[in-house]
Amino acid sequence: MSAASLPPPPQRQRFRRALLAWYAAHGRDLPWRTTPDPYHILVSEIMLQQTQVDRVLPKYLEWLDRYPSLAALAAAPGREVARAWRPLGYNIRPRRLHAIAREAVARYDGRLPSDADTLLSFKGIGAYTAGAIRSFAFGQRAAILDTNVARVLFRVFVARGDPKGHATRKHLWTVSEALLPRTRVFDFNQALMDLGALVCVARTPKCPVCPLARMCRSRHSLGPP
Ligand code: ADE
Repeated sequence: MSAASLPPPPQRQRFRRALLAWYAAHGRDLPWRTTPDPYHILVSEIMLQQTQVDRVLPKYLEWLDRYPSLAALAAAPGREVARAWRPLGYNIRPRRLHAIAREAVARYDGRLPSDADTLLSFKGIGAYTAGAIRSFAFGQRAAILDTNVARVLFRVFVARGDPKGHATRKHLWTVSEALLPRTRVFDFNQALMDLGALVCVARTPKCPVCPLARMCRSRHSLGPP
C-alpha cells in the first residue's frame, strides 16, 4: 500500500474488530460517553480541545450543573460564563461556547444542528469537533482526526513522510473515513482516541500491548518489540 492509497477492506475490518475488542476491555469510562445529548458532547469536546481529561472531568460536571442546557447557557451573562470557565485557562473557548449557545437559541430553536456545514459555520467548531458532535451526538458515520487519532493512523497505515504535512493530514482524514464501521461509530471513534491516549502514545508507545501491532507499519521502529 502506498502512502496515498487506502487500506483494503479486509484490513479495515481487522482494524475495526481489533480496536473495538480492545476498547470493550480497556476503554475509559468517561461521563460524556454515556450521553447522546448534543450539548453535553459539545461542552466536553470544547473543554477537551486544550485541556487534559483529568482536569476536564470535574469541570464538565460542574458546568452542566450550572448550565444544564443551551438555553440556560445562552441566558447567562458573558462575564459570568467567562468566570465559570476560568480554572480551565484564560482563553477564547468560553466566549465561543457562549456564542454557539446564543446562536443555537436564536436560529435553531435551542438545539445544535446536526449537519456538517452548519456545525462548521460556528466559530470554535472545526473539522474534528464537527465529526465528534456528528458521530457522538447524532450517530452519524462521521470521521474524526485529532492529534491522537492522527498519530495512530499515521503509524499504522503510513509510517513515512512528514506526519504533520498537509498532504499526510488530508490522507489521514480519508483513512479515518474509510475505517468507519457501519454501526458502532460512537464506540469506534472513542476507541481511536483512547488507543492514542493510552497505548499509541507519542513518546514511548506501548506496542507490546497494542491490539493493532500485528498490522502496524511502524511496529519495528517504535521501540521494544
Ligand atoms: N479528547 C477529545 N475528545 C475526547 C473524548 N471524547 N474522550 C477522551 N478524550 C478526548
